[in-house]
This record gives sequence, C-alpha cells and structure tokens, in this order.
Amino acid sequence: MATDTTSLKLNKEMQEAEDFLPILGTDYVELYVGNAKQAAHYYQSAWGFQPVAYSGLETGKKDRVSYVLQQDKIRLVLTSPLTKGGEVNRHIEEHGDGVKVIALWVDDAAKSYKETTARGAESYMEPHTLKDEHGEIVLSGIHTYGETVHIFVERKNYKGAFMPGFRKWDPEYKPSEVGLKFIDHMVGNVGWNEMNKWCEFYAKVMGFAQMVSFDDKDISTEYTALMSKVMSNGNGRIKFPINEPATGRKKSQIEEYIEFYNGAGVQHIAVATDNIIETVKQLKERGVEFLYVPETYYDTVLDRVGEIDEDLEPLKELGILIDRDDEGYLLQLFTKPVLDRPTMFFEIIQRKGARSFGKGNFKALFEAIEREQEMRGTL
Ligand code: FE2
Repeated sequence: MATDTTSLKLNKEMQEAEDFLPILGTDYVELYVGNAKQAAHYYQSAWGFQPVAYSGLETGKKDRVSYVLQQDKIRLVLTSPLTKGGEVNRHIEEHGDGVKVIALWVDDAAKSYKETTARGAESYMEPHTLKDEHGEIVLSGIHTYGETVHIFVERKNYKGAFMPGFRKWDPEYKPSEVGLKFIDHMVGNVGWNEMNKWCEFYAKVMGFAQMVSFDDKDISTEYTALMSKVMSNGNGRIKFPINEPATGRKKSQIEEYIEFYNGAGVQHIAVATDNIIETVKQLKERGVEFLYVPETYYDTVLDRVGEIDEDLEPLKELGILIDRDDEGYLLQLFTKPVLDRPTMFFEIIQRKGARSFGKGNFKALFEAIEREQEMRGTL
C-alpha cells in the first residue's frame, strides 16, 4: 500500500513554527486574462461560480476591468486590460492567462507586511487603506516565485461585496454551484534547482513549515520526473506544494509548464468538495475536461486502498482516483489545462481523513499527462 504518511507527520520545525504571520484563509485568487468577460462566463457556466462584484469603466476604472466570482469560500478575480500597454498586458503577453495574485486573508495587513519584508520579502505593495461607504480594507503585498504575488487582505472593518472600487455585480444569469467549498492547496512550479530556494522562502519569510517531500523516485514514470515539497502555514489552512522538474528520458511536465508560462507560476488550484461524484458529474456535463485514466487503474485500486464508502462503479465511470494514508483516504481528479497554453489546471479533491496528496496516484496521473504532452508534441 503506497502512502506518504510517515513523511506527513508534522516535523519538529513545524511544531515550533512561530506564527508571526497568522493567516485566516485564502482571500482570493486573481488571474490576469485576455478577456475577463468571457472568462467570467466560463467560470459561471462551467464551474458554478456566482457573480459577486465588478470594477471597470462604470466604476471609474479606466485601464482595467475585474469580475469577482465566488463559490462557498473560493473567490476568483478575473482581470483584463482595457487599453494598450501597461502591466496587465505585459503579464498576459509574457505568461498567457494565469494567476497573478494569491491573496491571503489576515487580521493585520500592515503587520503581515512588516514581518515578511523584515525577513527578506520583496515589497509589491506597501500597506494602504481603501475606503467606501461599506467600511475600509487594508492591503499590502509581497513578491513570491516568478511574477506571482501575495496580497495580504485585512477586511475586518468592511461589509461591502468585495472591496472599495468594486460594485455589486448581480446579473440574471446565475447557473447553480457544483459543490466546491474551499481551496485545499495551490501548487507552484519553479525552475530547475529552485524548489529548495522557494521552500526556504516560505519557511523563513512566511513562517511556513515543510509537511512532506517527494523526490524524483516518488514522482516519475518510465519517461518523466519531478520533485515536490509541500509547505504549510501554522494552522494548516494554507498549503503550497512547490514543484521543480527532474531529469527523465523525456521532458518533465514541469519543464513544459515553465517553457509555456515563461517562468515560475501557479500550476494547479486544488478545490475541495464533500461530494466528488456529484461535483465531477456536474462539471463534466457543463463541459469541463478531465485527464483520462485507463480503466485498468480500477482493477487493482481497492487492493491498494482497501475499503471505501463509495461504490467503485461511479468512480470508475468518472475517472476519479483514490489514495489512502494512515489517517484515511482521499478522492481526486485533475482537469486538463483550462487555458490555451498547457499551464494551469484544477484538481478536485474530497478528503476522507487523509491529509496527504495522492502519492499512490502519481504514476497513473503522470502517465495521463504524458499522453497529453505527446499529443501536444512537447514530451
Ligand atoms: Fe494537488
């Protein structure tokens, strides 16, 4: 039975992690995209995100437009440029559509900025307060891998839809949610030999600790390989696995990502559900495409993971993967890239006790990715 729980035991470093940066959760994830209006429609119609707030010409914003969508605790912001030139256009030209901001919900944005920059973080945005009739929000920000940034959001004195500068967005078109609850983890891909550097960044600058580590022996197929370490904050609400490519006979999926994204960036957002069968069924009906796992996976999976609550048949039908560790099991499934470049994708995950990341599925999963790379001519 393949599990990764021995390495999952919170290490000494983590127990001793000084929480100088208490994080309440992920506040929002902002993507810079070529056409936010159409991207918003995709996340509404295919993924069941609900319209929340809008900022653009009608709110006095001259150079960019943003749509805020939400499903339970998951908040997405989709931003496009309205004019030529500028930072958003440059980012899109460089990376294609992708995650610019992983915003973290904190109690004190000024302190979060002070503590992290004092420990070596590069400033992205100095603490400042935004006000409107609904109260005030304090924002600050630091750089992380690639051109990705963390914005600290303090919203305890705010009652509006999202933040000052946005107005409520309430269109008639509101397809139902699909049962997504919160962000379980967000994975960063970094370049060759950069994994340790960024894990050290999260340890030193943000007080995170390493939960688990996988080397190229854990994560390899006949052809390709990668390495990964999972960093977590003190209360475990924020988990950031960091991947780097490893040498294999063919091109690592991480290398493919780095080439198309032109550098380090967010590889996947894992979103949690408490009914993965229902969630995936709905996503498929609405056109979300998932990686294909051969049916032979299900011939032996129960020998590996033991008894589970669900019937195997619907899991097999939907291609949902299963893994177990000492604390329980998990069900997971990965989409194909949701953008034109083979960069970002989503993971749907349902945890039934397990706190690990599906190591037992890595091989089947990476072989599925290789089949896609083969078709793209990038293997
Ligand atoms: Fe994941």
